[in-house]
This record gives sequence, structure tokens and C-alpha cells, in this order.
Amino acid sequence: MLHAGAIASLVISASMLFESWAFVVPNQNPMDTLILVNKFNRAPAIPVALVKPNVPPCEEKVAENIYMRPDAASALEQMFAAAQEEGIHLYARSGFRSYTTQKAIYERKLGRVDDERSANASVAKPGYSEHQTGLAMDFEGESTLGQGLNAAIADSPEGIWVAENCHRFGFILRYPKDKTNITGYIFEPWHVRYVGVEAAEEITALGITFEEYIVMIQNERLQTISPVEVNYAEH
Ligand code: DAL
Ligand code: ZN
Repeated sequence: MLHAGAIASLVISASMLFESWAFVVPNQNPMDTLILVNKFNRAPAIPVALVKPNVPPCEEKVAENIYMRPDAASALEQMFAAAQEEGIHLYARSGFRSYTTQKAIYERKLGRVDDERSANASVAKPGYSEHQTGLAMDFEGESTLGQGLNAAIADSPEGIWVAENCHRFGFILRYPKDKTNITGYIFEPWHVRYVGVEAAEEITALGITFEEYIVMIQNERLQTISPVEVNYAEH
């Protein structure tokens, strides 16, 4: 059995490891809505049928690219409908991606940029994209439709609406501005990730990234381990 000192040092070394943001979450359940997929945590196979949310795609040719997990799809439908009621028109561009699709996107990016580093800052390597979980969606808004996924979305009425309201539907903006050192990716005001309402509300209220949230809840779990009484005189 571990004694209190060993537990304390485990907690400290785990926190130090986490603070580098290069941490691996072991044995993630692929069905967990809080699954962490990033440069250090690979996307597992999804053991559930994906569905196509009943929302408009950006253009006909992406209509088959917007599948999501059922829970995320239904939340997305609610979010798009609520936006619509306020005169905000959202369109879906990219939801679930297979390994093969992500590989093609990554390789296309590599062909367009000068070095691998800049490709890695905006596109995940195959196997490591959150889009492979079926919990992410890239969206566009009517006012910037057809202009591609770029930072201008953040200042558009649709981008502002999503940033302010997505937490109510269980989504977060996964790659915020000024947090690129933590997420490893450029600011992506178009990429929402479904985490469920409780987590989304908490992450938004605290103004933290998903990585920081996972560290926070892991630390909370570690702190619930009660220290074992040790008689040091025996050692
Ligand atoms: N653009 C995000 C990081 C992806 O490729 O999954
Ligand atoms: Zn995305």
C-alpha cells in the first residue's frame, strides 16, 4: 500500500507533468464526452453509429462530412435552431473525419505551407484530430459564408453569437485565442467541441481550456484519495 508521502509525491509529479501540457490520459473511455484528444492523446475508435445532424451544410459538397455522435448532433441542432431564432444563420462544414480523411487534410496542408511546424499549428496529424471523435464541428456563418475558415469568423455576428452562447448547449470553443501554448493550435473561432452542458458551463465560467479542465478534474479526483496513516517511528 502507498504511504502518505508517496501519494503526495505522486500528486506533485503528476501536476508538474500536467503543467507542461504534454500529458497522456491513460485508458480513456471512447464514449466519454470528456475524452481528451490532442497532440498527445490519440483518438480511439468510436463504438457508436454516427448521425447526420439536421442542420444546413455550408455547401452541397460537404453535406456528407458533417456526421457526429448522436448526443453531439442533437445538441448542435438545438444550438443552430436557437441561433436561427435570433436571426443568426449557421452552417456546418466539417464534423466527423475518419483517419483517412484527416490524413488527406493533413497532407494537403503540408503541401501548402513552407514547413511542417506551421502545418502542425493548424491541422492535427491523422490519429490525433478531435474531429475523429464525432464530437467536434467546424461551422461558418452567413456573413462570411464561402470565405473559408479564418480568424474573421471571430468578429462576425455568427462567430460572436457562438462564442457567447455555445456553452448553453454543451459546446466550447476548443482552440481559444491566447491559449495556443496550451492547446497547441492556432485560434480557431469556428471549431466547437461538445463536452456536455455541465463541463461547458464550468469551462466557460473559468475561462480555461479543455486541457486545463481535464487537469483540474484529475487533480480533484487525486485529492479525494485519503492519506494513509503511517507510523514513521517504525521506519
Ligand atoms: N484543426 C484541428 C486542430 C484539427 O485538424 O483537428
Ligand atoms: Zn475543427
